[in-house]
Amino acid sequence: MSYNAQRDTHPMRKPVIAANWKMYKTPAEARAFVAEFLKLAAGPHPAEVILCPSMTALGSVVEAVGTAPIAVGAQNMYYAEEGAFTGETSPLMLRALGVTHVILGHSERRQFFCETDELVNKKLISALAHGLTPIVCVGELEEERNSGKTEEVIDRQVSIALSEITPEQTSRIIFAYEPVWAIGTGHAARPSAAAEEHAMIRNKIAALMGQPVAEVVRILYGGSVSPENAAGLLSQTEIDGALIGSASLQAESFVKILKS
Ligand code: PGA
Repeated sequence: MSYNAQRDTHPMRKPVIAANWKMYKTPAEARAFVAEFLKLAAGPHPAEVILCPSMTALGSVVEAVGTAPIAVGAQNMYYAEEGAFTGETSPLMLRALGVTHVILGHSERRQFFCETDELVNKKLISALAHGLTPIVCVGELEEERNSGKTEEVIDRQVSIALSEITPEQTSRIIFAYEPVWAIGTGHAARPSAAAEEHAMIRNKIAALMGQPVAEVVRILYGGSVSPENAAGLLSQTEIDGALIGSASLQAESFVKILKS
């Protein structure tokens, strides 16, 4: 069976709203965000909320969040547990801080820090082995899209990321479809077009891991999500949530997206 964008909502896929703060916010600024967020979004959330601050603010955010239903994720990690890897952070270090999630393979890591599909795969294997929930980003560049290579690129990114990973482990992964041309540009993908790409990713996961696994895997959309366009994107059955960059930096706009 293949999936299409229009099928019924799947009850097993709880929506995820994740903030990727990139290289913004000192620990004090991050704590101030959490305090404001908790005021604006009191009570149970309709979605799982994940905040991904920079490495230096992770501990402060874990503390500020306390027992509130908010998860904290890193934006990157190295796959080794420890060793002579200057400047890197290990999964054990993240776990020790109370971090539960980690973004892997973000396009900015791929573009500016030379991360390959093979490295993303090693990190993914390690994150899963250490009980971290990975948020694995895939998506095509503008020139790849324009030359009709979107499917080929995403196919490659997904299949290499998942090599040596079991179906059970795959069901614990959160994917994020982030077309690179939509990141930070103010030009989000059209909801129906994004939903088609999500269906394509889900089909790929089904082919590799089986249909039951593909049914439960959450696939977030990322790339210029804003309070204005979030409802349209999130109303698509295939879109299980959002990974938000610039619109997540202010608690008010992040909460608006959460409420949509
Ligand atoms: P953006 O970033 O929302 O600022 O486009 C999204 C991301 O890079 O995850």
